[in-house]
Amino acid sequence: MKVLVTGGAGYVGSHTTKLLEQAGHEAWVFDSLVTGHRQAVTPGRLIEGHLGDRAEIQAALQEHQIEAVFHFAAFALVGESVAQPDLYYQNNVVCTLNLLEAMRASNVNRIIFSSTTATYGEPDTIPITEDVRQEPINPYGFTKLVIERALEDYARAYGFGYAALRYFNAAGASPSGEIGEDHDPESHLIPIVLQVALGQREQISIFGDDYATPDGTCIRDYVHVDDLGRAHLKALDRLETGEGMRLNLGTGRGNSVREIIEACRRVTGHSIPEVIGSRRPGDPSELIADASLANRVLDWQPEYTDIEGIVETAWNWHRHHPRGYASRA
Ligand code: UFG
Repeated sequence: MKVLVTGGAGYVGSHTTKLLEQAGHEAWVFDSLVTGHRQAVTPGRLIEGHLGDRAEIQAALQEHQIEAVFHFAAFALVGESVAQPDLYYQNNVVCTLNLLEAMRASNVNRIIFSSTTATYGEPDTIPITEDVRQEPINPYGFTKLVIERALEDYARAYGFGYAALRYFNAAGASPSGEIGEDHDPESHLIPIVLQVALGQREQISIFGDDYATPDGTCIRDYVHVDDLGRAHLKALDRLETGEGMRLNLGTGRGNSVREIIEACRRVTGHSIPEVIGSRRPGDPSELIADASLANRVLDWQPEYTDIEGIVETAWNWHRHHPRGYASRA
């Protein structure tokens, strides 16, 4: 199929685009490059554009006879969304509504949307199933929930077929070593810990060790970025117009911050000094997916089932690209 990938120069978007290409689809990346990387995109396949401009999106959809859209483009930092909610409402809500309207005007009605565990807020039940009440506790999660609801309405009213894929913690890098995670500034745990192993930081600060978890640190469900990508391809095959899928994507297993640091020590052979810092506001203590619905509906299950395997792919990327994509220039 001909697929427009918004945010295809970003982390999850670029990995999914490579998998789309490997599967024989024609992928066109639509990216503003505000946070994405030109080097992450196959040459000749980048449309530099902004989702604020509906005419630009329509031109891309029509020129390339697009049949489906993968929508990754968004801001995705919880703390930033609290400090600057305007950016999140503008970029994640207004721009996405622009995209949906451009799709409608171009008769494109299939979309796969990057949603998030942040739409659940602080759920009482672990593991989290899709029917857990979605009560986001920050603007980021709320903007993603707004779009989930918009998609439901567009499916009913305009016959859109959609999948809202709720990622848990995306991690790792392509085993090819060609693409990986590169955020500036970096705020995610695994890349930061690996920066310590690379000598770019002195130590890792653990954000709180007084949570009600076995070792006192927060637990997350780290899922390999290529496993997320493979779920998108499966969802594309199963999209039905007028209907939606809302699916959790995680491994069903949690790792604490301490366990992640230990896994990074084993993989890198570096001692990785740690200090205990204060809690980061807005961090739920534990988030683990029940991904059995994705397993049933998409016949999907993660290929990376242990955290060391995930960290190894991340380490392979970071040690060969200590400055991220700038190392490739
Ligand atoms: N952490 C540290 N030290 C650091 C960085 C992170 O202890 O220097 C801890 C965090 O407190 C958290 C865990 O490591 O407990 C993971 O943190 P990340 O920032 O890597 O990931 P988050 O779980 O905060 O974020 C992820 C996604 C977001 C999504 C959020 C929902 O990246 O997009 O889950 O809770 F919104």
